[in-house]
Parts: sequence; C-alpha cells; structure tokens
Amino acid sequence: MTKKEGGFLISEEDIKKRVKELADQISKDYEGKQPLLVGILKGAFIFLADLIRELSVDAEVDFLAVSSYGKATETSGEVKILKDLSESVEGRDVVIVEDIVDTGLTLRYLYDLLKTRKPASLRICALLDKKERRQVDVPVDYVGFEVPDLFLVGYGLDFAEKYRQLKYIRELTPEEVKNI
Ligand code: PRP
Repeated sequence: MTKKEGGFLISEEDIKKRVKELADQISKDYEGKQPLLVGILKGAFIFLADLIRELSVDAEVDFLAVSSYGKATETSGEVKILKDLSESVEGRDVVIVEDIVDTGLTLRYLYDLLKTRKPASLRICALLDKKERRQVDVPVDYVGFEVPDLFLVGYGLDFAEKYRQLKYIRELTPEEVKNI
C-alpha cells in the first residue's frame, strides 16, 4: 500500500498477495469443510472470484444483491434485498464476502439476517476496512487492508458504476469526482 504523488493506491501486486494470504488462512480454518462463500453484489464480485480460486478447500458460492439504505433509514441500517440467496444456508459454514466495510450498517444487517437462517457457522471476510467510519459493531474475521477514509475505486469498487474494472484500487480525487 503506498501513498504517492498520484494519491492513495493499492497495487495489483499487493492485492494479489493479500488475497492469497486470506485464502490460505480460510483454507486452513475450513479444512475438511465446504464453506459457502456469499458475495455481496455488486462490489464483491471481483474479490470473490479471485479469493475462491486461491482456496485449497472445496467451496460453493452464492450471491446476495442489496441496495444501500437511503439517508432516511441510515440510523436503522435497513438494507433492501434485491436478490436473495438461491439456496438455504441452514447447517452450512457461511463466509460473507464483501469488498468494503464502511459504517458497518450493511454487514450488520446481513450478518443478523443470515444468522436467523441457522448456518452452522457464520464469518465475514472483507477486502477493505474503513475502520474510522464505523457506526455499528460488526465481527469482521478476515480483513485484507485497513484503509483511510478516502473515496476508493477499482477492483469492484465503483463511482457512479464506473471504475469497477481496474486491477488496482486507488483514490478518486475530489477534482475527478467534480469532473464526472
Ligand atoms: C458498498 C459495499 C458495502 C457497503 C458498505 O456497497 O460494497 O456493501 O457499501 O458500506 P457500509 O459499511 O457503510 O454499509 P455499495 O452501496 O457501494 O454498492 P455496490 O457494492 O453495488 O457498489
């Protein structure tokens, strides 16, 4: 992770290395099991795709699509489910996979929701953690990078649906935001 003239950046190489480390840890923790990775769309799709290919345990995958709470519901943290899981998680070892934890409201809601569906175990893996923005506690078991409170794009993260395709993560400067 580097801070240089061009702004904050996590390079493709750094991401690759860290994703492998997370996958190794998950493979170790779930040895002999078949975890179900639940990706939260849209942001997590690239991270999940890379993470699952580095696992040495058999894993399955499912997705949840959510829309962020609007301003009015920010305090409740209620999240609208746009697409629910396609299968039951009862008795499964579930790992929620997210690109970023910010206020924590989305994950808190989803964690509590999935918990009611009686998985055998439930953990969270997030590539990025903007800890200083946290409003509610959320148990994040696997974290890729702790990041500062900057507008970050790339590797699944967007601004107005753009930039998700970047192989690296970088800061979007206020000037760039203005010009979009
Ligand atoms: C991002 C991210 C998390 C959420 C985190 O999603 O993927 O789901 O925000 O924020 P929180 O911790 O403050 O709740 P976003 O709403 O940008 O949607 P996207 O994944 O479709 O880009």
